[in-house]
Amino acid sequence: MEKIQQLKQQAIDFIESAKQVEEVNQIRIEYLGKKGHVANLMNLMKELPNEEKPKLGAKVNELKQELTARIDEKMMILKQQAMLENLEKEKIDITLQGYQSTLGTIHPLTMITQEIEDLFLGMGYQVAEGPEIELDIYNFEKANTPKNHPARDMQDTFYINPEVLLRTHTTAIQMRELEKANGKLPIKLICPGKVYRRDDDDATHSHQFMQAEGLVVGKNITLSDLKGTLQYMANHLFGQGRTIRFRPSYFPFTEPSVEVDVSCHICNGQGCNVCKSTGFIEVLGAGMVHPNVLKANGFDPEVCSGFAFGIGLERVAMLKYGIDDIRNFYINDIRFLKMFHRFD
Ligand code: DAH
Repeated sequence: MEKIQQLKQQAIDFIESAKQVEEVNQIRIEYLGKKGHVANLMNLMKELPNEEKPKLGAKVNELKQELTARIDEKMMILKQQAMLENLEKEKIDITLQGYQSTLGTIHPLTMITQEIEDLFLGMGYQVAEGPEIELDIYNFEKANTPKNHPARDMQDTFYINPEVLLRTHTTAIQMRELEKANGKLPIKLICPGKVYRRDDDDATHSHQFMQAEGLVVGKNITLSDLKGTLQYMANHLFGQGRTIRFRPSYFPFTEPSVEVDVSCHICNGQGCNVCKSTGFIEVLGAGMVHPNVLKANGFDPEVCSGFAFGIGLERVAMLKYGIDDIRNFYINDIRFLKMFHRFD
């Protein structure tokens, strides 16, 4: 009994003088652990006569409970103290200047793409995309441009092998979509995407640029449907009151083919240096889908017809925002990109 009393006092002294959580943990092991003092007392009981065991057992249990309670309490106090000390140390000076994070800008080409997509989605078109690494068959062959066709010269590109290339125009998406439709009408699509040509880069040429292809195939689709659609697009992109004009042209995948000019949005057709005093600016190529293209994709040109157009997006952005060098779109000069901040 005396030993128990002694042990208890000793433990309480230790607990009370402990200053660190680790110290208290150590005391817990020493007194309450498997090989600790309390466990040793229990072992001692085995040697006592039976009639004394309950009395001593109760005392040891009491000791165990008391020490557990005191250790737990001390632990709590020390942890709380440690937390308060930490909070004190880690004070945050909220008067310090913070870092300002700037919001990125939407690339002007993305803006034009979204604008065109929205416009055509509003007219019931769907948006379609295709691979930039394309098969010759979709880029040329199905577009009525066989291997020896001279029109291939104008669209020389980067070949991965004789049958695989970087697509030269979004007309490749048109071919994929015609094939996919599997003869089902009507088709109304707008297809934006990157295209590639083996051009030397300068202020108006880039080996990589963007186009958007438009395609409508159905019954009784005529050249005047094309004209009305392009007039609507011209007004939307370059402002109300634009006029458009068709000039005869040639593309292997359309017949007839036209080049489309829009009246100059800078001088309103009066003549200025942007339109080179002509009052008009050439913006896209278009035409009625060639019967061979319809046939190659499983459509009967006697039953249906279609129009298509391809528009260069850099050219639209350059005209619209007065940008004089196409390379601006690709060199990631932050000063250029910042000019298109929608939120400033
Ligand atoms: N693919 C032509 C080009 O890159 C543009 C074009 C012309 C697309 C006429 C068409 C079209 O869909 O009908 O120069």
